[in-house]
Amino acid sequence: MKRIVILISGRGSNMQAVLDAKLDATVAAVISNNPAAGGLELARSRGVETVVVNHREYPDRASFDLVLGDRIASYQPDLIVLAGFMRILTQAFIERFNDRIMNIHPSLLPAFPGMDTHRRALEKGVRLHGCTVHFVTPFLDSGPIIIQAAVSVLPGDDEPRLAARVLEQEHKAYPLAIRWFLNGRLAIENGRVRVSGDCRYPGAFIAPEPA
Ligand code: GRF
Repeated sequence: MKRIVILISGRGSNMQAVLDAKLDATVAAVISNNPAAGGLELARSRGVETVVVNHREYPDRASFDLVLGDRIASYQPDLIVLAGFMRILTQAFIERFNDRIMNIHPSLLPAFPGMDTHRRALEKGVRLHGCTVHFVTPFLDSGPIIIQAAVSVLPGDDEPRLAARVLEQEHKAYPLAIRWFLNGRLAIENGRVRVSGDCRYPGAFIAPEPA
């Protein structure tokens, strides 16, 4: 059975979606940099081992990432899933787990990397917004794209409404991307992800689907 470690910093709704997806894998641990992350309790209530590595207890990113990496490595994961993990990881950390770290970002990358994606999407007046699951590289929010889900931006949308609509799609896209990984269907070729095998959505979907 393949092994997953999930990293969170907050409420953990994407983590919950992954746990609920009944993937053919063991979630070996949920690790948070934030002792107050709501998702920790949720993970414990599902019988998943939880660990806190509080970044505030380390003088710099490098020393935090070293300890974090050692804790992760002790679970021998096949995949590390960043689910609302709000720390920038060092190049050394990312190279240590090369091509085995996934992230979900709440925009259609490469549009709106970084923070406040929903506010910025509304400010720009984009008609389509969404989320992206990608492999993590040392360049923030710009690793090879695995799956994207798009939603329409509707007249009258505000940040919370748009965020909620995108989050609903995040909860579908992330388990699907992880399932593809676990089934060996993802290959990185020239910095791009190829999804092999038949699938209804070869890496993209729009919600609601066009009639
Ligand atoms: C999600 O919007 C995710 O895309 C972003 O941070 C948020 C985390 O939410 N990276 P949750 O903790 O999974 O509920």
